[in-house]
Amino acid sequence: MRGDIIKIPEMIYYILMAAASLSIVIFSGCGKTAAYDESIVSSEVNVQNMDKDNSAVTNNKKVMSDQLNMREVNLKTEPEGFELSKTDIRLRVGKQAVIRARLPEGIDRKQIVFISDNISTAEIVQSGETALIKAVGEGTAVITARLNNGAEQKCTVVVTDKPVVEVIDGVTYMDGILIVNKSYALPESFGKGLNKTAEKAFYEMAEDAEKENISLRIVSGFRSYKKQSELYEGYCNERGQEKADTFSARPGHSEHQTGLAMDVNSVYDSFAYTREAKWLAENCHRYGFIIRYPEGKEDITGYKYESWHIRYVGKELAEKLTAKNLTLEEYFGIDSKYSD
Ligand code: DAL
Ligand code: ZN
Repeated sequence: MRGDIIKIPEMIYYILMAAASLSIVIFSGCGKTAAYDESIVSSEVNVQNMDKDNSAVTNNKKVMSDQLNMREVNLKTEPEGFELSKTDIRLRVGKQAVIRARLPEGIDRKQIVFISDNISTAEIVQSGETALIKAVGEGTAVITARLNNGAEQKCTVVVTDKPVVEVIDGVTYMDGILIVNKSYALPESFGKGLNKTAEKAFYEMAEDAEKENISLRIVSGFRSYKKQSELYEGYCNERGQEKADTFSARPGHSEHQTGLAMDVNSVYDSFAYTREAKWLAENCHRYGFIIRYPEGKEDITGYKYESWHIRYVGKELAEKLTAKNLTLEEYFGIDSKYSD
């Protein structure tokens, strides 16, 4: 009897153990069919295999939860974006432009690459987050800036062999050079004073001229639309409109309203025979200026020779125009004629 009494709890024990083993197998199987990726499944299996070691369980649970969190972060986060300084560029063959990528904090400038889809139109010289675009031939090129996280931005480059003409707020620019003559006018409200770059270039030139005992000073710089109206009207009253149109611009048509033109020392024809006028004609291009209304080009510029009127166009163009003896009208292939 005693032996039988002992056997009953043993049987219960074996039944309970069998049930427990079965539940472990079922539980294990469920784990393997869970909808996680493989690495997460293996972590889950590890959790069960190490159920006697609490610290290992805790560690593995943390690994699993970290993996789940990372997975969630990866799903929610798009590649970190950035901006380009320009998305649309028009260039003349032989010209260059710069595009800069504005990268978010913490992104290394070495992680970006610029690619041209048409190198016979636009070539790229890259330096970190900056790309120098060289217009080498007519056509269209798309520049792609790509970060190594997959983020992309594009800039379209249109290259032509003719001047690139832009009219911005009623002001005409050709290859970026502001154009004002009898054919191209400025809005009445345009202009606030001398252009700072042109003014600085003038004083640099005057300082250098001084070293050779040549004294240069501005006798008329910026003139507003209103000021030009008063001047022009005065000349018309004195000498008639036809004559006035040969030496004075109508309001809205004077380069003085741009802040980029200056009359130097005198506005009398006799100035042409001075040492100062000679020095100005021979040297002003080195500082970015041209003699805007040269002798012999009256029919092209629309104005009589003005040895004193200089116009700032920047060193590159000033050198080119001077070397080739060209006016802005000839260089850009434009007229200078009033429509009426
Ligand atoms: N004298 C030049 C043409 C002007 O009036 O702007
Ligand atoms: Zn002038």
